[in-house]
Amino acid sequence: MVEHVDFKERQGWVMSLAAVILAAGKGTRMKSDLPKVLHKVCGVPMVCHVLKAARESGADRIVLVAGFGGELVEREVKGMAEVVFQHEQLGTAHALLQAARPLRDFNGDILVLCGDTPLVSADTLKRLVSAHRAGGASATVLTAVLENPAGYGRVIRDGRGKVTGIVEQKDAAPEELSIREINTGIYCFKSEGLFDALAVLKPDNVQGEYYLPDIIGLYAGEGRTVAAVSGADPGEIMGVNDRCQLAIARETLGRRVNRELMLSGVTMVDPDTVYIDAGVTIGSDTVIYPNTIIQGDAVIGRGCTIGPFTQIISARLGDNVTVRQSVVENSEIGSHCVIGPYSYIRPGCVLEDKVKVGDFVELKKATIGYGAKVPHLSYLGDAVLGRHVNVGAGTITCNYDGEKKWTTVIGDNAFIGSNANLVAPVRVGAGAVVGAGSTITRDVPDGALGVARDRQKNIPGWSGRRKGRKGESEARGEK
Ligand code: UD1
Ligand code: CA
Repeated sequence: MVEHVDFKERQGWVMSLAAVILAAGKGTRMKSDLPKVLHKVCGVPMVCHVLKAARESGADRIVLVAGFGGELVEREVKGMAEVVFQHEQLGTAHALLQAARPLRDFNGDILVLCGDTPLVSADTLKRLVSAHRAGGASATVLTAVLENPAGYGRVIRDGRGKVTGIVEQKDAAPEELSIREINTGIYCFKSEGLFDALAVLKPDNVQGEYYLPDIIGLYAGEGRTVAAVSGADPGEIMGVNDRCQLAIARETLGRRVNRELMLSGVTMVDPDTVYIDAGVTIGSDTVIYPNTIIQGDAVIGRGCTIGPFTQIISARLGDNVTVRQSVVENSEIGSHCVIGPYSYIRPGCVLEDKVKVGDFVELKKATIGYGAKVPHLSYLGDAVLGRHVNVGAGTITCNYDGEKKWTTVIGDNAFIGSNANLVAPVRVGAGAVVGAGSTITRDVPDGALGVARDRQKNIPGWSGRRKGRKGESEARGEK
């Protein structure tokens, strides 16, 4: 056998591998309008996790069988798989049969995966394929032994341990229900004869469905070689059929994501309270404090301090950034920036290096220049701030006139006094100063002082006279 493989390799002859992902089911138990395989685990639709594993396992063709919500599924996997449709969900065997057309000229091995098994790793798939090839099997099923096998198909073996079939939970006899070796729903088949055999299967079972696992019994009965790769990691092969299992899958993958990040040099003070999506990148020596959520394709640099109580959604952060008790979404944050506590950086912001955005500050579509400071209680929307601008507490850009959004531009080194209203469109020049409490409606030229508020009036002795009046009225019994 080994010599045979060597010979093939010497000839440069590599066995081809295709993968078919079954993803047409509605996922009734999810009780959802969204197709089951599009529910996300750590920010990525389940089916995309499976696609990634299939690609990394060496499959050079991937066919995806879509059905319920098929257009949505097709859009999600566009460019990553050939999509075929199963118009009626008649069972997993019928689903695989839909791949017969695109794979009619394919000659090699076909890996079959379910779109609802998102945690399977490429390594496990590679192990399955090489065992399948080494054993010269027509079909090899990946099995696992579970503490609680409820809901899964059970693997039936004969007295000598040979796999003779798979029986679904709903069709199983009481003694079969006690079997703890289960069908993971992941198989490898020789392409030869596969689709002909599928066409022979009958839906004679409790659910009236065409069961793909029946092909194992069929092959075994015909004397074709059927093998099993047993002992798959239960944490990898779990199927997600309802939202409780979805939460378990999230927890399992989340732990894997955190572990990999920690091993790559990220400190997590309490990883159990840190939720990081599968697509996130974080540099070494970054410290993540508890109750932090980092989502989408966020990229965080080295040496940052993130959290506690922080949510970062698809934002890019440079190195040595501090974000505390804040939300940062779809924005670019330069190195050495300090954000929070209690800042809300909404989509479309760009913070250059060394910017400080302090407590209770909301930014939206704002570009903040190098070294600028917005330390407290401000709203800056549709604003462009130059370098070293200082924005006083309570400053508001009035960017919306009820119909349109307008831009505020503030030049380098400008100083905005506290509690200013900048009514856009408006421009404050470089080095200009805006007096505290001003409502600025016209441009302030470079280097000028813009003040727009009433001059203060002091009335001498007013307070004492008021007290006197108050005393007289109280004496009259008035309130
Ligand atoms: C299936 C297996 C079971 C195995 C379990 C592993 C069958 C009959 N049973 O059960 O032995 O232990 O997976 O998780 O195969 N699908 C289609 N078209 C259909 C029906 C299903 O594409 O007509 C897809 C679904 O979208 C899903 C996958 O096939 O991704 C599995 O279907 P599901 O209904 O979840 O099967 P299980 O009952 O979990
Ligand atoms: Ca399932």
